[in-house]
Amino acid sequence: MKFYDREKEVEYLKTYCQLEPNSILFVYGPKSSGKSTVMRRVIKDLENSDIVFFYYNLRKYATPTKDEFLSIFFEKSDKKYLLNKLELNFKIFKFGVEESFDFNNIKLNDVFAKINESINAVVRERKKPVLVIDELQKLKNIYFNSGKSLLNELFNLFVSLTKMEHLCHVICLTSDTLFIEEIYKNSTLKNESEYYLIDWLSREDIEKILKEEGFTDEEINYAINYLSLPFEISQLINNKKLGLSVEKTIKQWINIEADRLKYLIDDTDLNEEMIYSILYKFKDKITLNYKKDIKKSEMPYIKFLIQNEILFFDVINGIIKPTSIIEWFAINKLIKRH
Ligand SMILES: Nc1ncnc2c1ncn2[C@@H]1O[C@H](COP(=O)(O)OP(=O)(O)OP(=O)(O)O)[C@@H](O)[C@H]1O
Ligand SMILES: [Mg+2]
Repeated sequence: MKFYDREKEVEYLKTYCQLEPNSILFVYGPKSSGKSTVMRRVIKDLENSDIVFFYYNLRKYATPTKDEFLSIFFEKSDKKYLLNKLELNFKIFKFGVEESFDFNNIKLNDVFAKINESINAVVRERKKPVLVIDELQKLKNIYFNSGKSLLNELFNLFVSLTKMEHLCHVICLTSDTLFIEEIYKNSTLKNESEYYLIDWLSREDIEKILKEEGFTDEEINYAINYLSLPFEISQLINNKKLGLSVEKTIKQWINIEADRLKYLIDDTDLNEEMIYSILYKFKDKITLNYKKDIKKSEMPYIKFLIQNEILFFDVINGIIKPTSIIEWFAINKLIKRH
């Protein structure tokens, strides 16, 4: 799989990993903007450095249970931390726990003690531990016996590992923007966290990539107005090989998205006209200013559109926009028909 650009983002995260840990980093951005791919590239680039990446990707799990969480994060071993053997060509580590460890009767404090032991073992070897959790919000509904929420308690652990002890970076990725909003508003995390946006590819970068990929000037001039996400470029290339023109592919995408959006609106109990009134705001502009353009009474509709990956809410910069430029065209197609 080819990797396009993202030099700035890769450099930022690589440098970040080398600095002294001081806060939790949340990496966020529109759906499919390439957050996970950039993070994996960073880990790959640093595989021969003194950094030990504990990388956990929760994407594969619908909603992990407590048992799944434990088996994802820990492995029985006589080592405090060990290579994740399931990941070929990718040097990442898991927390090690002793053979006698009873996964069924474990208290949350014991879980945290084990994480601490693993991280301290890395530090003692004069290496730098970095904990990366992709799709962290999936741990939201896990509770331990005492009724404690795993995620809330994890945040306390993360603050202690970063801000207080400066032992280990904690990088959390999420495609769930409403989750980022929750975190952003959470007062205990207020001064303990930083946010990094991985946004759409820039127009210039897309143009450069399309040129390198051998698209004609005519194709580029057409496509440049519609593309924003890396996977769209790979798909255009494949479709071209399959005999589908750039224009046809893009028109198809817009149609599919417009249909999906119409179906979503038809299928919800929310007031249709209110949803359309939100969509109309995107008639002449692609970004809305949260403070200026949105009223409180409109928020349930905005949230509905965010949950269904029509809109992206950049809570840090106070901006709301469609998840992609294709999505913007789909919105416009639909409101013209309405
Ligand atoms: N820089 C890149 N070069 C080439 N392909 C990329 C790049 N970034 C992402 N992709 C491709 O785009 C798709 C989405 O990328 P990825 O899963 O990394 O996005 P994401 O932001 O993590 O998505 P989600 O919001 O669903 O978590 C994948 O198929 C990936 O291979
Ligand atoms: Mg991802």
